[in-house]
Amino acid sequence: MRIGIIGAGNLGIGLAKHLVAKGHSVMLSFSRDREKLQKSASALNAHAGTVAEAAAFGEIVVLATPWGVTSQALAQVGELVEEKILWDCTNALKPDISGLLIGTTTSGAEEIAKLAPWAIVVKAIPPFAELLHSPDMLVEGNPVDVFVCGDDREARGAVAKLVEDIGARPIDAGPLALARYTEPAGMLLVQLAYASGYGARIGFSFHFEKGDQK
Ligand SMILES: NC(=O)c1ccc[n+]([C@@H]2O[C@H](COP(=O)([O-])OP(=O)(O)OC[C@H]3O[C@@H](n4cnc5c(N)ncnc54)[C@H](OP(=O)(O)O)[C@@H]3O)[C@@H](O)[C@H]2O)c1
Repeated sequence: MRIGIIGAGNLGIGLAKHLVAKGHSVMLSFSRDREKLQKSASALNAHAGTVAEAAAFGEIVVLATPWGVTSQALAQVGELVEEKILWDCTNALKPDISGLLIGTTTSGAEEIAKLAPWAIVVKAIPPFAELLHSPDMLVEGNPVDVFVCGDDREARGAVAKLVEDIGARPIDAGPLALARYTEPAGMLLVQLAYASGYGARIGFSFHFEKGDQK
């Protein structure tokens, strides 16, 4: 599958590494340093492009930008004629990482959907880059769980497949509005990893008996 990634930092590059290894064709974008972007992409056997080029290239577009520049990045997508799945990986972090700027009455994902009318937004916060860049994606021998929310079942399924491809376990968490709760759960992981001393080799492990998921 062709995947355009907006954001070529720790997360964007970590995702690209796994996705290329699984046979996807990846284009990285959104850097203040075009040469660095080109080098990072070449090292991964990926393409480099502008945000507009990556969005046009991707059958799925991945959003991996710091919250403060997310609207700026989305504005660079320009006009897209076809609808695309947008895998939103962002945390709406306060600049000092002490908490979230948005939560419970709306979600970062729902706000992104307003900024990207071309997008079928699916929220799934990937494991920390420290895990993505490590030799395996396992914590205590297990893949970590990633909640996947979105209003379109097929789009959730497509992103769930990519979550598997990066070595995590997708948990179908239903409609996009559930991101109001999965995003604070992501913030909990940030706090546990970086403030409470658990470190970034950390993740959820979700257990359930088969229900009737909507
Ligand atoms: N890192 C993780 O473990 C992780 C895990 C889950 C979710 N997330 C979320 O994923 C998103 C990206 O995180 P990250 O850790 O990959 O961030 P990062 O390493 O800081 O990467 C930021 C990316 O945005 C680009 N960028 C372009 N213009 C920018 C500007 N004006 N200011 C800042 N960056 C600019 C940077 O390019 P240049 O620096 O090359 O210009 C880089 O490609 C965040 O929303 C984060 O909360 C991160």
